[in-house]
Parts: sequence; structure tokens; C-alpha cells
Amino acid sequence: MAVTGSTRRTPLIAGNWKMNLDHLQSIAFVQKLAWSLKDARHDFDTVEVAIFPPYTDLRSVQTLVSADKLPLAFGAQDLSEHDSGAFTGEISGAFLAQLECQYVIIGHSERRTLHSETDAHVAAKVTAALKHNLVPVICVGETAADLEEHGPSAVPVSQLRAALAGVDTAADIVVAYEPVWAIGSGQAATPEQAEQVAAQLRVVISEALGQDVADKTRILYGGSVKASNIAAFMREPNVDGALVGGASLDIHEFSSIIRYQKHVGV
Ligand code: PGA
Repeated sequence: MAVTGSTRRTPLIAGNWKMNLDHLQSIAFVQKLAWSLKDARHDFDTVEVAIFPPYTDLRSVQTLVSADKLPLAFGAQDLSEHDSGAFTGEISGAFLAQLECQYVIIGHSERRTLHSETDAHVAAKVTAALKHNLVPVICVGETAADLEEHGPSAVPVSQLRAALAGVDTAADIVVAYEPVWAIGSGQAATPEQAEQVAAQLRVVISEALGQDVADKTRILYGGSVKASNIAAFMREPNVDGALVGGASLDIHEFSSIIRYQKHVGV
């Protein structure tokens, strides 16, 4: 079943800072990014912008965004599946909601690979995020070996099915398709491949949560997104934005990605 209707979805450009920029650097960075976008008269209603700094930056970012009334959304790069208790080193979704985070990244491939997060952990974290009114940015993607063995969509499809298992049909979610081999490699997927997988992920959402949720859910592409390749991804009907790693740490590059509509016809 094909699901279309991209015109009703506001594109989202999200910057995943990973373990970069401390809280002082985050203040300078967000100020400069805001100036750069203001200077360029960026319309945040046309393309939404979200940043994902390290946990220790979130209070500083929240204070700045609130004091200067910046139209920037922000969120954390992970959360605990638990609300509170003896979980040393973990961060509760309740704490993130208190800091006015709107989003939280869940199941990034670096969490899955380096921290052994399974589909079950990801599903529990998605439930925890929704419980605290955080929009989960659910990351799925295949490794180079998966690509060779199963093609591009089998693994992302099964990861997303698992992540949505306990989600109710009114959920507000974002999905990020990030081929693991494309992350940080400089070798992005082709826009055609991103579209093919995104279309199948939209079918998974439709089967799990219904057509209305599938129609309104943003599906992002991630993996070596740059100012020079973003427009081709954004031309695809099922790609509604990007999750940007390395290029989100460069203000000029990140603002150019956000302003893709200006530097190329889409
Ligand atoms: P990259 O990272 O843009 O540096 O490839 C993307 C991500 O890991 O979300």
C-alpha cells in the first residue's frame, strides 16, 4: 500500500551533535546558528530545525532558547527506558521533559553497536519517550553486511516494526533511516535508495499505527548529509528531512542544509 501526501508534512532538519561541544561551546554555537538563520530570514514554519546536544548542554540550550525566544527545537540523544531509580548514569525522560526537550533520538546505530542496544531496548525507550510527551526520533538502518545479504530495506523494516510494537495509534513520532555504512563515511545513500526504504517504512507505520499517522509522520534520511546533497534527498516524496551528524557542527554548512530550498529548486 503506497502512502503519499508529503505536502502536508513540515520538513525537519535535525542536528545530532553526538559527543561534541561542551555547554559553553553550545551557547556560542546556538547563538551563531540563530543569527545566521535570522540573517538569512529563514522561515522555521517552512523547515523546522532541531538540535541534539549532549545531556550536559541541555540546560544551557534551554535557557538560551527560552530567553531569546529562538524558534529552535532541541532534544537529547538518548534516554533511559526507566523513569527513576538505581540506574547509574542513565537519564529519565521525565528530566528531559522538565528541560523542555521536544524530541529524543532513540536507537541510533552508535547506541545499537557500541552499547549493545537491542530492538527490545529501543521499543522500551520509545514507550518511555511517549509517556513523557517527547517525540522519539527512531533510528533504523542496515549495515554494509546487511545490505549485501538482505538489500537495503529488510533490516530497517524489521527494526521499525519492533520499535513500534508497543506504541498506540495516536503517537507522534519521527523516523530516521540511517544506513550504518553511510554514517560518518562521506558516502551517502542515493536519493533513490533513501526513497525506496522510506516508502517501505511508511507502510510499516501505516500497518502499525494506521494511515493517518503514516501520512503525517516525518521520515528523515541520515548518513553523510551535506549542503551539496540535501536537495536531492528532499526532492523524494517520502523523505521529509535529514538527521545530520558531522555537518551539523559547522554553522555555515548546517544553515545551508536547513536553507536547501533557497540554494536549489526543490
Ligand atoms: P553523519 O552522521 O551525518 O556524520 O554521517 C549522521 C548520524 O549519525 O546521525
